[in-house]
Amino acid sequence: MSSKETGFTSRLGVLTATLGSAVGLGNLWKFPALTGENGGAAFVFIYILACFILGLPLIIAEISLGRKGQGDVFTIFKRLSPNTAWISIAWMGIASGTFLLAFYSDVAGWVITYLIKAIGGDLISTDHLITTEIFKHTSTTPSIALAGQFFFLAIIAFVVLFGVSKGIERVTKILLPLLTILLIIVAIKNLTLPGAAEGLSFLFKPDFSKVNSTVILYAVGLAFFKLSLGMATMLTYGAYIPKDQNIPMLATRVMFADLIISLIAGIAIFPAVFTYGFEVTDGPSLLFVTIPAVFASMPGGTFFTVIFFLLAVFATMGASMSLIEASVAGLIGIGITRKKAVLAVIAIMTFFGIFATLSLTPVLSHTTIFGKNIFSFYDFISSNMLMPLGGFLTAIFIGWKMNKEDIFFEVSNGGTLNNTVFLEIWYILLRYVVPVLIIVVLLNGLGFLSPLFQILGF
Ligand code: TRP
Repeated sequence: MSSKETGFTSRLGVLTATLGSAVGLGNLWKFPALTGENGGAAFVFIYILACFILGLPLIIAEISLGRKGQGDVFTIFKRLSPNTAWISIAWMGIASGTFLLAFYSDVAGWVITYLIKAIGGDLISTDHLITTEIFKHTSTTPSIALAGQFFFLAIIAFVVLFGVSKGIERVTKILLPLLTILLIIVAIKNLTLPGAAEGLSFLFKPDFSKVNSTVILYAVGLAFFKLSLGMATMLTYGAYIPKDQNIPMLATRVMFADLIISLIAGIAIFPAVFTYGFEVTDGPSLLFVTIPAVFASMPGGTFFTVIFFLLAVFATMGASMSLIEASVAGLIGIGITRKKAVLAVIAIMTFFGIFATLSLTPVLSHTTIFGKNIFSFYDFISSNMLMPLGGFLTAIFIGWKMNKEDIFFEVSNGGTLNNTVFLEIWYILLRYVVPVLIIVVLLNGLGFLSPLFQILGF
């Protein structure tokens, strides 16, 4: 397919589609869950640092590489570095995308089930025993969880069949602003709750004694997950982006907007946690138990709950579509039709997805891989291992393998952007800081550095 057919049509289209990939369950579900499990504000602080030091340089890197390579992930590496092992970045991206959507679609299925329940008016309650029970029922009943997941995967298959610019742009352009507005309304309501002060201090007052190697590993993983990095996604999208777009500007906007949405989601959730007697460590259930409880205490609660979960479904779709688009474009690149490619990718992801979903139900709850259930294992291997590794290799590829002039030419739009100082800083980050940090975080997270730290007396 030529870039004309698939390219994004307008400047706003580029921004919303890239943002549409970034904003999703990561903001509404994963950010609050990890923040709660990892001690609150100190985690948030390290996550924000990771967004600036690792996320921003890498999102610029991936989009630029994609636009320079003009094609699917495989074509990009074949063009920029023919017959080398660098193409493994593309394969790794596709692999982590498969693991990611496998568990992501399970959570997306819960969101759909919640939407249906909300329409029936079944969700609204401030009693944490009731909301917790509804969540358990949704996520651990095999038939319900699988039905939600299949339904979700079927919808995105349908939408992606219509192609990038038509399908993805249209949906995200309208819905992201609406979702943000609704989140702000919920956040404001939260600020009036009795637990507001406690919730805010949990979210924003760091206790750095809670920071350890696991906290850092998860914060870095979240930065990758949030910005859709270290996988083929931003590379693929880069190829669709017009040559006159200012990539550093686009990337910075996406990073800030995404971060702000996560923080608003945090404000929309944590005061309610302290008000209604949930536990911050409830993790994956936080989104699903707190939001209905907050709406229950508002006039028009049922209506708002329906709209909220509807918008959450759409945000999740935008992110998921970007994710499968990378694999689909790869298959199209080797000569498969779009239709077959979409069906093949969805079939593979559904296959892996079934195991993730069942691992939270009694059917497969006893099966563990490296001490984690299948759901958490998929999440860990993609967010905390493959994505950082993909980011590491991308940084090395640009910083050490590519010609500096070539990549500067791409990121400065042929020199017309006059951003040399910025580019030099970006280049140093990619060449030294990003790779070293990622390796230290990965080795540290896996426990390989603790003997060294002991020798050094830390
Ligand atoms: N960024 C999305 C979110 O926060 C998740 C996601 C979508 C993603 N596509 C991706 C993560 C590609 C990594 C790679 O919900």
